[in-house]
Amino acid sequence: MTNTIDSYAQLHSPPRILMGPGPSDVTQNVLNALSQPTVGHLDPFYLEAMDGLQSMLRSVFKTENELTFAVSGTGSAGMETAVVNLVEPGDSVLVCVNGVFGSRMADVATRAGAVVNTITKPWGQVFTTTELKDAIAKHTPKVVGIVMAETSTGASQPISEIAEVVHNAGGLLIVDAVTSLGGMNVAVDQWGIDVIYSGTQKCLSCPPGLAPISFSPAAVVSVEQRATKVSSWYLDISMIANYWGANRAYHHTAPINMTYALYEALRLLHEEGLDACFARHALNHQALKIGLETLGFTYAADPDHQLPMLNAVNLPDAVDDAQMRSALLEQYNIEIGGGLGELKGKVWRIGIMGHSAKPENVLGLLDALEKLFMENRINCESGTAYNAAKAVYLGGCSD
Ligand SMILES: Cc1ncc(COP(=O)(O)O)c(C=O)c1O
Repeated sequence: MTNTIDSYAQLHSPPRILMGPGPSDVTQNVLNALSQPTVGHLDPFYLEAMDGLQSMLRSVFKTENELTFAVSGTGSAGMETAVVNLVEPGDSVLVCVNGVFGSRMADVATRAGAVVNTITKPWGQVFTTTELKDAIAKHTPKVVGIVMAETSTGASQPISEIAEVVHNAGGLLIVDAVTSLGGMNVAVDQWGIDVIYSGTQKCLSCPPGLAPISFSPAAVVSVEQRATKVSSWYLDISMIANYWGANRAYHHTAPINMTYALYEALRLLHEEGLDACFARHALNHQALKIGLETLGFTYAADPDHQLPMLNAVNLPDAVDDAQMRSALLEQYNIEIGGGLGELKGKVWRIGIMGHSAKPENVLGLLDALEKLFMENRINCESGTAYNAAKAVYLGGCSD
């Protein structure tokens, strides 16, 4: 596209099939919601939309937490909000690192002035409660941070027993649910999570731009008892809560149209039903998995802890990472993700998140891969992976 100062071409984005680590496919309903007229951030219509949004967020997080809202920013803004509000300079923070996003949380906590200790596991593995208990006994952290769905490895971290261990030692638990929320069960109150955050562009199938977040009453008390001001003005929940709560006091101009979009995405999720949505992710994962394994891919994450919505698979030797991903995009309009960090060049990250989790996407990808494998003379029998996946949808096979 050549532009001069007088004429810039209009944008026409290509209709991709998004099967990477996010963003995921956005439905026309959500795009329509995004394009509704912008109103003021104190307009009664908008305030009602905020109330509805908060109520739907509480239901998807499975929490009664009053302080549940959407941070203006992507998932990383959610991470920063969680950390900078709970952490004061000099506080001890323990972060569990088994992939890129655990490392990012440790970095954020270090920048917030915390004394950060980490426990690590090889990428693809998850932490046991005993490992956490030992690390907590050693470091006595005020805050423990852990990623539920590690998007860099496809590993699913069990969360339900962790909060008790953290609370018994007097700490608070932050959970990253950027990739898990909306695609698998997240039960904030039942599991005793203190702060949880997510993003809109993964299993919620909304464009990127907001970070759903929820603070437990104990987390709110901890923020109220701080001796120092929160280091970020923009992300200080004591001020933001005055806008999302009854006072409606201006803090910053809300991203109005993104709120419409998230509202609609959550409305669609509730219309489908959480359990039905989780079952849809699980079924599409089973079909995709059997198809990929038929093609010679193996999973990077521990077999007992594989995420449904993010399939990180080791590349067979014959596959040229960059060439094959470009061919998928250029010839089939399908985006998948490459590896991140230490898995760069070694894995693909195939997302079936939100509205991307559907048979036509899974079968379309397997069909495209079979064709590309044959074109590139990579060992593959036409239709085998596709048919193996199809059998799962027809109820013929499950793993
Ligand atoms: C687990 C996890 N945490 C945090 C983030 C950061 O979110 P964002 O890229 O929306 O800022 C991501 C993004 O992929 C993620 O997968």
